[in-house]
This record gives sequence, C-alpha cells and structure tokens, in this order.
Amino acid sequence: MSATILDGKVLSQEIRAEIAKQVAAMKASGGPTPCLAAVLVGDDPASQVYVRNKEKACEKAGMGSIMHRLPADTTTDQLLDLVAQLNADASIHGILIQLPLPKQIDETRVLDAVNPLKDVDAFHPENVGRIVQGRPRFLPCTPHGIQQLLLRNRIPIAGQNVTVVGRSEIVGKPMAIMFMQRGEGGHATVTVCHSRTKDLPAVTRQADILVVAIGKAKFLTADMVKPGAVVVDVGINRTDDGLVGDVDFEAVKEVAGQITPVPGGVGPLTITMLLHNTLAAARLQSGT
Ligand code: GUN
Repeated sequence: MSATILDGKVLSQEIRAEIAKQVAAMKASGGPTPCLAAVLVGDDPASQVYVRNKEKACEKAGMGSIMHRLPADTTTDQLLDLVAQLNADASIHGILIQLPLPKQIDETRVLDAVNPLKDVDAFHPENVGRIVQGRPRFLPCTPHGIQQLLLRNRIPIAGQNVTVVGRSEIVGKPMAIMFMQRGEGGHATVTVCHSRTKDLPAVTRQADILVVAIGKAKFLTADMVKPGAVVVDVGINRTDDGLVGDVDFEAVKEVAGQITPVPGGVGPLTITMLLHNTLAAARLQSGT
C-alpha cells in the first residue's frame, strides 16, 4: 500500500493565515508592523529564489520586508557594518542572513553579531543554548516546521524512535535536540546518524519517524525504511531530473506509512516558521 502524503503546502497556507490574523490584530491595537530584513550576499540563483519567496510571504502576511543585496566580493567588515545598522534600527524586528555566504566572509563572526532578539533563524549561540536548555526564544525554522507538520497531522512523537540522518547546525542538530526535549513535540527516543555511522540501514530501519537532511539526491532507499514509518525529506537537490529530495520517493512511498513530497513538503513550512519568528520578534521588542 502506498504511503499517505504529508502536504506541507496546504498546512503552510493554514498556519500563514493564522499568522496574518495575528499580525492584523497587532497592528489594529497600535502595535508595530513586524518587519524582516533579509541580507543576500552574491548572486547564487537558489538563494535569490529563497530570499524572494521569503519577501513575498512577509508581504502576504501583512509584514514588512526589506531586502539588502550586497556584491559577491563584500568583506566581513562591510557585512558587519550592515548588521550593526540593522541591529540599531528599531523598525526592523528580524534579521536573516541568507546562507551560504561567499567564502571570504567569516560566517561565524557575522551570525554572532546579529542581536539575539532579532535572530529569527535561531543561529546565535545564545539562542542555540536556550534551545538546548529547553527554554527557547526562537526555534530554527526548518526543524520547527517539521515538528508542526507532525503535531498538526496528529503523528505521535512521545516515546517514538525518531532517527535524524544528518547533523547540520541548521537542521539535523537542532531537530534532534527538539525531539528529545520534554514537552509537546518532544519526549522521543532520538538517534542521530551521519557519515561515520556504522550500518546505516540497520539503524534507520529502527525508526518510527525518520528525518533525512543530508543534501544527497535520493539517498534514502526503500530497504532503509521500516514498513509504516513516517518519512520526512528535508533535501532540495537540483539534478538532471529536476528538483529531488534526499529520499527515493517513488520506492520509499511503497514502504512508508506517511511521507513528505519534494517540493511541497518541508520547504513551504520553513518560510512559514520564519514568519512566525518575525512576529514573535516584533512582540518581544515592542512588549505587545
Ligand atoms: N540557507 C539554507 N537554509 C537556510 C535557513 O534556514 N536560513 C538561512 N538564513 N539561510 C539558509
């Protein structure tokens, strides 16, 4: 039997409508218009599309968005100057530095310079530390989107074997931490797999929920999945066959119980959670 599709696009529309309502209420009660500043350095075509989509989503939700495009040869100091300016601007509530940055830029220095109260990606060490300690200020957008996808589809998480394939700072590592926390969306028994994992298929076959975020097209094959498991595909890989995930979707959907498609799965939820964080940042900074 074929797996049920977990539709991230429809769920995103629902959550974005909820956010738009809250933004309208904030503005109607004399609060600020939440505003995101997005910074794009260089001309990576995929990043340009992502940033444009983020801008459009902000506008649709009634939020402000300001885009800063800098040339590919921007220096670390020039980017730090812009971050300082955005930190000091009270009309900007969220700051997003689109990654990856060109290689001459010291990414850690730049991300560490973002005011933690405006850090809507939750990349700042203070915000990461708060997540680890179970008292988050912001949750990182992709892991938060995945957690919401599971919760809102009433997929049990507590007590389940959740396996995360990939240990990136943006997805795998925070995802694993969020699933192991106490509270809603947590209480899972978490395993993290990576390039040094021994007998990966034997490990992934134990998973009730399998999140794959390694950036390798069609890496996860049907023999690596327990029948009936929930499979979440975070990958966006551009190949000759077009856009494909990290999961061999056609084969895995015959084994899994539920599965996210690419596109239309995790991707739209990432942007939705960015809107959520921008609204939360505006609340924090305005005390509304
Ligand atoms: N590049 C890929 N994913 C992300 C993300 O979640 N945030 C930012 N800022 N850049 C990214």
